[in-house]
Amino acid sequence: MAEVIRSIMRYFPLGVAIITTNWKGEFVGMTVNTFNSLSLNPPLVSFFADRMKGNDIPYRESEYFVVNFIDNEKILDTFANKPVKERFKMVKFREGLGKSPILLDDYAYIEAKLYKVIDVGDHAIIIGEVIDGEKIRNNFEPLIYVNRSYYKIHYSP
Ligand SMILES: Cc1cc2nc3c(=O)[nH]c(=O)nc-3n(C[C@H](O)[C@H](O)[C@H](O)COP(=O)(O)O)c2cc1C
Repeated sequence: MAEVIRSIMRYFPLGVAIITTNWKGEFVGMTVNTFNSLSLNPPLVSFFADRMKGNDIPYRESEYFVVNFIDNEKILDTFANKPVKERFKMVKFREGLGKSPILLDDYAYIEAKLYKVIDVGDHAIIIGEVIDGEKIRNNFEPLIYVNRSYYKIHYSP
């Protein structure tokens, strides 16, 4: 049944973001298509991390994470495919309230404090309570990921 899920989800368009954290002094980050807002009261956001790849470990072991909203395909690709140790050498960033990296190319970001981790099958649902965030610029073209490619959405707000 995993193949059924894979073959159908491949054509289901999803938004993408980069989740970053400061894991015991080391900057780590990954591209995800599983980010969502979960609750407004309390203000919660979530994403799913692949436990088989160990993608959950930095986030369950850190107090804070940042959701980076970014329309730069090259940076999204960097945070999915380049070696983990190289990633932060290839981008500019500043540190947020909890010292997680906020990418300077973001058009918006949300900073969250770890609220709960729920292990479900081979993934973990990482839930954070929003503590900060900002829309940095208005001129952006959000990207979606479908059929293994990124597409820009053109629209007039
Ligand atoms: C578009 C896209 C979305 C992804 N979404 C997720 C996700 O939601 N959760 C996850 O754990 N990994 C996701 N990944 C894979 C991680 O980005 C990748 O496993 C992580 O950066 C670690 O890199 P590594 O697997 O090369 O060690 C996604 C990859 C791509 C290209």
